Amino acid sequence: MRRLKFLGTGRCLPDKVVRNDDLAVRLETSDAWIRERTGIGARRTVEGKTSTSDLAAGAIADACQEAGIEPGELDGIIVGTCSQDTLFPSTACWVQDHLGIRGMPAFDVMAGCSSFLYGLEVAANWIEAGRAKRVAVCGAEVFSKILDWDDRRTCVLFGDGAGAAIVGRAEGDCGILSANWGSDGTLASILQVPAGGTRLPASHATVDEHAHFVYMEGSKVFKHAVRAMSGSLLQAMEDAGIGPDDVDVFIPHQANIRIMEASRERAGIPVEKVYSVLEDYGNISAASIPVAICEARRAGVLRDGHILAMTAFGTGLTWGAALMRY
Ligand code: UT7
Repeated sequence: MRRLKFLGTGRCLPDKVVRNDDLAVRLETSDAWIRERTGIGARRTVEGKTSTSDLAAGAIADACQEAGIEPGELDGIIVGTCSQDTLFPSTACWVQDHLGIRGMPAFDVMAGCSSFLYGLEVAANWIEAGRAKRVAVCGAEVFSKILDWDDRRTCVLFGDGAGAAIVGRAEGDCGILSANWGSDGTLASILQVPAGGTRLPASHATVDEHAHFVYMEGSKVFKHAVRAMSGSLLQAMEDAGIGPDDVDVFIPHQANIRIMEASRERAGIPVEKVYSVLEDYGNISAASIPVAICEARRAGVLRDGHILAMTAFGTGLTWGAALMRY
């Protein structure tokens, strides 16, 4: 076991609530379709100039407060996002600017919805190597600004938000029991934002073609998501010698209730172990796992000593799973 602890967790969600019925006013969709096909009832969206780093800074500040430390005491900041503030610098550096802190390394990991688990793996190895004591791992997204609000196949799915954990050294019987991560770049094209990078630089034509917005082949993504999330989770359980009934709380990435349910069923984890924020927040990508952890913790559902199972899947394609004794 890699001994570590979440010293604090935090979250930051915009106030504005967009319900399915609000979308049905301007799109050919319905609350019934969205709920039945995805499990989503509402999502939060930012207003005005609020960007991903604003939400990330809010979540990290909240997590630091719970951990009883000042943000300046962090040894590192990792932000997982695929809706970054700018092409460069990293969103993590904008977060430092918001928090008024400097010195510690700050960088992004970009593994889509798997980014929190990727960041956790980096932080765990960093801490285990003895090079850091406290690392903020944050998942943050402002999808509302990269969605095509005329495309009902994507815009009904995603939301904005950020969650963070302060990962620190621990003496007791807690830490990462097992973890794995992987990716398959041969499937990169099925979930992407095509324009704005060096592959397809921004131009009037890319704007006209809506190429700066999320493009997704939904049913292909769905199929791979179920396979990858359940496969990585089963591998992590085998590596840790943990059975499905040993899991106290299961927090999968929350993209679609049918994906979560199929992954849970394949792993054999009892349905009552799932903790979900999907209905209220939609798919908040990299933020879904840390927001759910923070809320499960504050609701008293996730307690010290519990075994927490996490698994995720995202653009790349990427995936990962981690089992943790909390
Ligand atoms: O976080 C990781 C990234 N994302 C995901 O994991 C998402 C993975 N994919 C999915 O969750 C699902 O594939 C979707 C929710 C995106 C779509 O659900 P589906 O059951 O795969 O539906 P579909 O794409 O096969 O579409 C079925 C029908 C189509 O109509 P026709 O062609 O059968 O006439 C769509 O045009 O539903 C239609 N449709 C909608 N209808 C009402 C698609 N979006 C909507 C909508 N409202 N918002």
